Amino acid sequence: VDTSDEWIYTRTGIRERRIASEQETTATLAFEAAARALVIADMHPSQVELIIVATSTPEYIFPSTACRVQDYLGATRAGAFDLSAACSGFVYGLSMAAQSIQSGAVRNAVVIGAETMSRVLDWQDRGTCILFGDGAGAVVLKGSSVPGGVLASTLRSDGSGGDMLSLPAVYHNPMPMLGPEYLHNGHQNNTVAMNGRQVFRFATQVVADSVEETVLKAGLTMDDVALIVPHQANIRIIQGTAKKMGVPMDHVIVTVQDHGNTSAASIPLALSVGAAQGKLKQGDLIVTEAIGGGLAWGAVVLRW
Ligand code: ACO
Repeated sequence: VDTSDEWIYTRTGIRERRIASEQETTATLAFEAAARALVIADMHPSQVELIIVATSTPEYIFPSTACRVQDYLGATRAGAFDLSAACSGFVYGLSMAAQSIQSGAVRNAVVIGAETMSRVLDWQDRGTCILFGDGAGAVVLKGSSVPGGVLASTLRSDGSGGDMLSLPAVYHNPMPMLGPEYLHNGHQNNTVAMNGRQVFRFATQVVADSVEETVLKAGLTMDDVALIVPHQANIRIIQGTAKKMGVPMDHVIVTVQDHGNTSAASIPLALSVGAAQGKLKQGDLIVTEAIGGGLAWGAVVLRW
């Protein structure tokens, strides 16, 4: 497409991204991330009780990606399902898993964000094909009598904004939500369609409020927050949201330059980078937040 490194970097902050090889799928990436997380958590797959894969790029509607991961892992005692909340999928999954543990329904859960966005891009559309990358990340949550972990979460949605950002499924009416004009402009069906300006405006309006609400729910203030781990869509959205929250950028983990926008995978990837760099310290208050297609957004406050 007609673009340049300069255009991409100044508008998005993206320098690099990863593209899955032909042999890789969302499920194999998810499996690798989950297997590594289980090693760190010192847990055998047979102990896992719940597997949630947040993804917008499953190979199949069913069997779910999570069931494939369950099989690859040999997690013989786990329930498994996929969660569809686009870029907010990991935040939604974390919230669901934590509540399942808090209710006593399960003792532990593996939450995975995994995407092969490269397979659902219109590579002729320079407004979207430069943004997205492939990847996967995973966390293991365990019930504990020691206070900490996920303290509070807020999930929000506004389906009336669904046409700002969409990915039609195989059985979808051939017109994407953006309408016939979009197709006539040469865009391919069954690929990501986006009105970047509208998404940008909406994203910078709503996320900061849900973070502040969640911190309040946890009985804390923004001054208690050590680190924000945002969905890595775009450096300008990350900076705009941090400014709105009054959080300096050195308290924000930024990986968008290395991964691009990996949708549901971006937060667990950023957590993994933050952990490897020693930025996530035991006892620190961490906030993850995301917004994406749906529109769906939310935040989770957790004690690392
Ligand atoms: N290279 C060069 N020019 C481009 C490119 C490109 N890759 N893409 C668009 N342009 C051109 C457009 O054709 C247009 O040209 P024209 O004025 O001659 O018509 C011009 O740049 C401006 O286009 P806009 O779409 O208005 O560009 P904008 O400044 O809004 O930047 C961008 C586009 C980077 C996508 C921006 O809208 C944005 O960051 N939006 C947020 C969307 C996002 O991050 N979505 C990710 C998924 S949702 C989520 O995860 C939160």
